[in-house]
Formats: sequence, C-alpha cells, structure tokens
Amino acid sequence: MNEAAKTDLFGQTIEKRQGVSQNTPSDRTPLPELPKGAFVWPQMLHVEAQNALLSHLREAVAVAPLFTPAMPRTGKPLSVQMTNLGDLGWLTDKESGYRYQSTHPTTGRPWPPIPPMLLDLWKRCAPDAPKPQACLVNYYRDTAKMGLHQDKDEQNLEAPVVSISLGDTCLFRLGGTTRGGKTQSFKLHSGDVMMLSGPARLAFHGVDRVYPGTSDLLKGGGRINLTLRVVG
Ligand code: SIN
Ligand code: MN
Repeated sequence: MNEAAKTDLFGQTIEKRQGVSQNTPSDRTPLPELPKGAFVWPQMLHVEAQNALLSHLREAVAVAPLFTPAMPRTGKPLSVQMTNLGDLGWLTDKESGYRYQSTHPTTGRPWPPIPPMLLDLWKRCAPDAPKPQACLVNYYRDTAKMGLHQDKDEQNLEAPVVSISLGDTCLFRLGGTTRGGKTQSFKLHSGDVMMLSGPARLAFHGVDRVYPGTSDLLKGGGRINLTLRVVG
C-alpha cells in the first residue's frame, strides 16, 4: 500500500493527500481544496460504526450529563451543550473561562473514558501523535452554531485535532491562522471525519448552521461533534 494511503477501520480506503479524500459520495457537493494540513474524510464511519459510537455516547452522557457552557466574563451561554470523555475535558464558564479539567463541572466525577473505537480512529488519522487525552462532545440542537475560533488551549499544538460529525449535516467554515482572513465553507455530514494538523492546526473554524432533518441517526435530531485532542 502506498505510504500515504490508509485503510480505515470500517473498510474504506482513504487517501491522505492535501485537501480531501477521493471518496466523496456522488450525491454530495464536492469538497473544496483545503489548506495544507486540513483533511476531510467523507463517510469514514459508516452507519453501523456511527450507531456503535452513539451507544458509547449514550452510556457516557448517563454519567457525565450534557451541560451548557458559558463565555468567560460575560457568562453568555454558548448555543451548544457539551460534555467530555477522557482524562481531561474542555469547558468554559463565567468565573474561570476556557480550560481543561479532569472532572465534570456539576457531578465532580471524572469524565468517562474515550472508547477504544475512537482511539483506533485517532491512530489511523494521526499515527505519529501521542494518544488523545480529551474528547470534547458538542451537541447542536435547533439553531445552535459555533463562532470562528482556534483550538489553542492545549499545551501541545503539534498534535492534530481530529473531529467526527454525527447526525444532521452542518455548514462548516474553515479559515487560515489569522483572524479576519479568507474562509471557505463546506458541508460536513454524519460519519465524516476531519483533521486539522501541521500548518492548519491553528486554523480558525466554526459551524455556521445545522440543517434540521438531514439525518435520522439521532432520534431527536440535531448534530453531535466529537473532537479528539492531545492537551499537554
Ligand atoms: C469545535 O470546534 O469545537 C466543534 C467543531 C464542530 O462542531 O464541527
Ligand atoms: Mn474548535
């Protein structure tokens, strides 16, 4: 096998080149050419894998319930709800701002572990990186969205960030590493995996909107995004 090509966990071949893999399903809008270091693997998780992941998440949320994060200082609630898996979890609230911590903010208990299937997925996407310590779970309901931001609360900015989309399709926006620069928008669908690495590790990104009713994976609709990160 070509050094750059990997067979994913679920039987598809993905080609790791700059930009996107070749296996965009034909009913999807083609992805644009992405900046160096940014990758999208459409449909890396087929529907059985998405459902398996969902049952891990249901168990996790039973012990680490979704909570509403709030902006530092203003206390303005974010429109997503979140929880975490792993040794460390990312959160934000009015008093203490953006941070990682090892316990859930309301239960005080450790976050549930990252399931092995996500660790395997990480290994396929980022074979040279250390194991992820955190998996942020964002749940987008109704009109939830996420403003353009960089993931930069990690000490380790060398390791990539890998994210998985489940449920309704979203309009994702990706820019460069400077605020106010050019951005491009494309859709992420249930089962798509995205990675920001190398020169794109600190790329600005956000979610402009979710398209209700575009997936029947989640009973109540909405979108879940999981972000795997090495923290320190
Ligand atoms: C995030 O940047 O934390 C979430 C991105 C996404 O929902 O795709
Ligand atoms: Mn982010």
